[in-house]
Amino acid sequence: MNDPSMVASAMAVGVIGTGHVGLITCLSFASVGHRVTGFDVDASKTETLRQGRMPFHEPGGQAMLEVATASGRLAFTDDIAEAVAGADVVFICVGTPIGASGAANLLAVEQAAREIARAATGPLVVAEKSTVPPGTASQLGRTLGEERPDLVGQLDLLSNPEFLREGRGIEDALHPDRIVVGGSSPRGFAVMRRLYQPFLDAGSPLIETDITSAELAKHASNAFLALKISYANALARVCEASGADIEAVTRILGGDSRIGPDFLGAGLGFGGYCFPKDLAAFAHLSERLGYPFPLLSEVARINDEAVQVAVAMIRDAVSNLEGKRIALLGLSFKPDTDDIRFSPSLTLARALIAEGASVAGYDPVAGAAAKEEIPELQVVDDPYDAATDAACVVIGTAWPEFRALDLARLRELMAFPNLVDGRNFLDSESAEKAGFNYRAMGRPQLRSDPQTSGV
Ligand code: UGA
Repeated sequence: MNDPSMVASAMAVGVIGTGHVGLITCLSFASVGHRVTGFDVDASKTETLRQGRMPFHEPGGQAMLEVATASGRLAFTDDIAEAVAGADVVFICVGTPIGASGAANLLAVEQAAREIARAATGPLVVAEKSTVPPGTASQLGRTLGEERPDLVGQLDLLSNPEFLREGRGIEDALHPDRIVVGGSSPRGFAVMRRLYQPFLDAGSPLIETDITSAELAKHASNAFLALKISYANALARVCEASGADIEAVTRILGGDSRIGPDFLGAGLGFGGYCFPKDLAAFAHLSERLGYPFPLLSEVARINDEAVQVAVAMIRDAVSNLEGKRIALLGLSFKPDTDDIRFSPSLTLARALIAEGASVAGYDPVAGAAAKEEIPELQVVDDPYDAATDAACVVIGTAWPEFRALDLARLRELMAFPNLVDGRNFLDSESAEKAGFNYRAMGRPQLRSDPQTSGV
């Protein structure tokens, strides 16, 4: 696939919300030559961006931000009207947090639509990128109409769901597997085709559909990926009971091109701001529509169970958690991000602390955020400090740098040489060779030496 190159006819793009989705949307459109203005209600985030700094960790983001702002193609404002006035397309990229009932809270989306309508100066495409339940567009369409009866027929509402992953967001945004545009207006489709032309030229396919299908497809995609992970984790339980090795089983499964190898990684399960909340919102929505979709709650249950299995494994390794020091390596919800929202590693930390363990955590970038979330967690700056006097080291997040750990040194620092790999990430033989009592999720233990455990 080629890199999308600069477009001949630059368009004016407004982006409302500069979180992971919004900011990466700003960067990718600016990189192909469009003129982008990003707005966020959080003035301090806007100020950080104006000073040329990324407000979160995203590989490649800082360099792209510098290039885009220096070229004059990307600017940030704290006045939403500046992002909307004169734009060809405005994207809604605000958060859709989980409400008390499990339903998505759409207040910010609704508010954004209202303010966009107020600031519109003429014909405008308004595109939802926030993950929203099907049916949201018709509600937003009414909002646009109420606010601007004078622009009836000129404000085209579309759904353009985003499928980028945190930590790989730039690559995903520049080379999407598919670009989805849901809508009903030929003018809206034409504007989006022009906007995405460099990405289409670089090889990404475009799927045009109705707006409800586009909205639903985003929920369906996230839920299916979560389902794959939970399937692997449920299989890991069967592997533990039967003596099979989940890594071998999923390699064989993934080798079938109908199944595919991705998202079959067993371990502590999924976290982050998307899967847990989107799964709950999708379950809630289906129930409301009259189809309860019990598979979705089972996916969530298996995911919760994965952390409990890890707690039991650690407890078993150290005999009793009370008073033991546990080193937890990796605190973010996955590697290459400082995002700790719904991090399985932090759920694990809480459970260990609740059983009387003291937990020393290390993360390449997420330490400060984790400490703020769990004040009882000791956060250290070095994995070896975390391991000193520990009864067990636990891999909570699969940061690539953990593969370069000096395992022999780590073991020497510890009170007991237990290693629980919550992400099936390290090489089991190297860990055994370094003298570890190594346990992983859904994998048979090569060697178990009670003399070396925390009995
Ligand atoms: C997810 C989707 O992958 C994106 O397509 C989507 O755009 C995004 O949500 C969203 O809705 O905004 P993200 O949450 O950034 O992206 O992260 P993923 O890479 O999907 O990982 C989610 C969780 O699953 C992480 O905790 C990760 O460690 C876990 N995971 C992933 C596994 O436990 N096993 C795997 O095999 C893969």
